[in-house]
Order: sequence, then structure tokens, then C-alpha cells
Amino acid sequence: MVDRLGRELRDLRVSVTDRCNFRCFFCMPPDREIEFLQRKDLLSYEEIARLVSLLVPKGLRKVRITGGEPLMRVHLENLVGMLSGVEGLRDIALTTNGYNLAEKAKVLKDSGLKRITISLLTLKKDKFSKIAGRQVDLDKVIEGIDTALKLGFSPVKVNTVVVRGVNDDEILDIAEFCRERGIVLRFIEYMDVGTLNGWSMDKVVTADEILSLVSKRYPFEEIEREKSETAMRFRYKDTGLEFGIIASVTKPFCRGCTRLRLSADGQLFTCLFSQRGFDVKSLLRGGASDEEIANRIERLWTEREDRYSELRFSLREKGPKVEMFRVGG
Ligand code: GTP
Ligand code: 5AD
Ligand code: SF4
Ligand code: SF4
Repeated sequence: MVDRLGRELRDLRVSVTDRCNFRCFFCMPPDREIEFLQRKDLLSYEEIARLVSLLVPKGLRKVRITGGEPLMRVHLENLVGMLSGVEGLRDIALTTNGYNLAEKAKVLKDSGLKRITISLLTLKKDKFSKIAGRQVDLDKVIEGIDTALKLGFSPVKVNTVVVRGVNDDEILDIAEFCRERGIVLRFIEYMDVGTLNGWSMDKVVTADEILSLVSKRYPFEEIEREKSETAMRFRYKDTGLEFGIIASVTKPFCRGCTRLRLSADGQLFTCLFSQRGFDVKSLLRGGASDEEIANRIERLWTEREDRYSELRFSLREKGPKVEMFRVGG
């Protein structure tokens, strides 16, 4: 199954809820009124697992569970368990803000979760609450990270979006934090996702800037990356530990984009920057057969020609894009 730019479908990013216990300024600013989905609008775990099962024969290999904050959804381990039973699915990963991870990590591991990525923008307590838009306890996130490490998730990754004037002063401290623990850190260039974050180019700390800073303290070398990967990969020369940079703004990776996204209410998006989704929930709930659904998704994929990050600076008109907390981070 190949799209118009020759890309195969390999990954599905599944948002299980649009809710979150944080209100990060770049995602769900606390002063904005957000209308969340109702319970009945959410796909059930059975519906998600059915969709995954019928996409495996079409090439799907990897599922990443996201949100909103995925640990806000009750008994997420049940979904992980169902996905673990899908034959041919090779990888199940989770992206979380880490706040409730310490108490959930064990049951998720026992259900078959392999990999966890935790978002962490700062190591400073006060700043953490400011970024998260709520009074939140940084130690809880660190405890979540350490629990994931202790339980043997491999690799444990940390994602750090770098925003100029917010956390660019902590790049080396976060690198050090991850080096001490053997965590694979990925810096992310701040992106213009959604409509709420007031993004501008001057807030983006570029991959080149980050690399130049890191190289002054820790020598590293570049590792080759798979074409479908989001991150440029590097290896510290002293420890051999890896880190990466996801540079969607200055070094777009759309040519290798094998990712499809499923929102919590059952819309499929072929790009993180899409304006509209494809309503697969109606098919799932309307009695369509597996074959009908698979064929319809095949059509969606083969007609796809998304490459927003490549076009970002040349697009004349930008309509309202889907919010990241709806379509999954
Ligand atoms: P691995 O499975 O470990 O390779 O991780 P991943 O890079 O697939 O997923 P992860 O959730 O760690 O992605 C990190 C971040 O990269 C996301 O939170 C987004 O900010 C960004 N990202 C992921 N996929 C895309 C994409 O298709 N396009 C763009 N522009 N950014 C993406
Ligand atoms: N640019 C880059 N990354 C973002 N994330 C959320 N919003 C943005 C943005 N505008 C990140 C979160 C988390 C992941 C789900 O996506 O910090 O690491
Ligand atoms: Fe929640 Fe993640 Fe959005 Fe922050 S970025 S509000 S943690 S979903
Ligand atoms: Fe894929 Fe769209 Fe991201 Fe490009 S911008 S890598 S097409 S999701």
C-alpha cells in the first residue's frame, strides 16, 4: 500500500483521549475554553484493536498510543493487552507526560507494552508548573521516568520540545539528566501544530543550534537513520548512548512519513497538520465488514500526498489545522 509519494503505511498513532491533566501553553493554553469529547464519542478499545488488526495485512507494524494524555483513559492496559494479541504487530509504544506513570507502568508492562516516551521540558520545579499551566509536581514525572527504567522498558525515551526563551537554557542540563540514566533524549523543534499556540519562527531553536551547543560539551557522531524515522540520530562518543533531534521545521522528514493517525473519536488523519480527518468511526459502527473498512483506508492512503513540513514556508493559505491533543502527539 503506497501513497502518491511512494510511502508505505507502517505506523499508526492512536489518540485514546483528548483530555489531559496538564494545560501546556503550546498545546492547550489554560486561558482557552476547550470542548472535550464525550465518552460515547470515543472509540472503544475493541474498536481500536479491530482497526489495528485489519491494518496489519496492509503493512502496519507499529502502534504508538498517545492523547491528550493517554494515562487519563481508564484501564489503558486493556488496550495494550488487546494490541499485544494482534498477530504481526511488532511494536507497541506509549507517549505520556509521565505524571501518572509511576503507578501505571507495571500493569502496562505486564500487558505487553514495550517502549515508553516521556515528555519533559524542564528540570526546574517552578518553571514546570508554568509550562504545564497548573500547579504540578515535577518529582512525580521523574519518579515515572525512574519507574519505567527500573521495570526494564527499553528504550526509555525523553522528548524535549525546545522553545526559545522558555527552556533553551536547559538543553545541556536535560542532556546530562538523560545521560546519567541511560535515557535516549530527543530534542524537538517547536512546531506550528494546531491553532492555539501562537507559534512563530523566532521561538524555534533549530537543530543546528542545539547540535552546536551539545557538541561543545559532549562530542558525538551521527548515526544513520531509517528513512521512516522522525529523529536524526547521534551517539555520544564517550558512552555510546544515543540522542536525537526531531527537526520538522528546519529539516523536514516528510519523504519518509509512514504514519497514519487516529483521533480518540475515530477520525483518521494522514498528516499531523491535516485540516480534516476521515470518519472511520461511522464505518466501524455502521456494520461495515473488515474488508470494506480496509479497502476504504487503502484508498485514503493511496491518495495521500501530505508533506506539510516541506511546504510550511511556501503555503499561501493555511486553514485551521487539527489540534495536537486531538490527533495525538
Ligand atoms: P519512535 O517510535 O521511538 O521512533 O518514536 P517516534 O519518533 O515515532 O515518536 P514520538 O512520539 O517520540 O515522536 C516525537 C515527536 O515527533 C512527536 O511528539 C511530534 O512532536 C514529532 N512527530 C512525530 N511524528 C511526526 C510526524 O509525522 N510529523 C511531524 N512533523 N512531527 C512528528
Ligand atoms: N511542537 C513540537 N512538539 C510538540 N509537542 C506538543 N506540541 C508541540 C509543538 N507545538 C510535543 C509534546 C510531547 C509530544 C506529544 O509532542 O511536548 O513531547
Ligand atoms: Fe497535555 Fe501533552 Fe498537551 Fe501538555 S503537550 S497539554 S502534556 S497533551
Ligand atoms: Fe508526515 Fe505530515 Fe509530519 Fe510531513 S508533516 S512528516 S507528512 S505528518
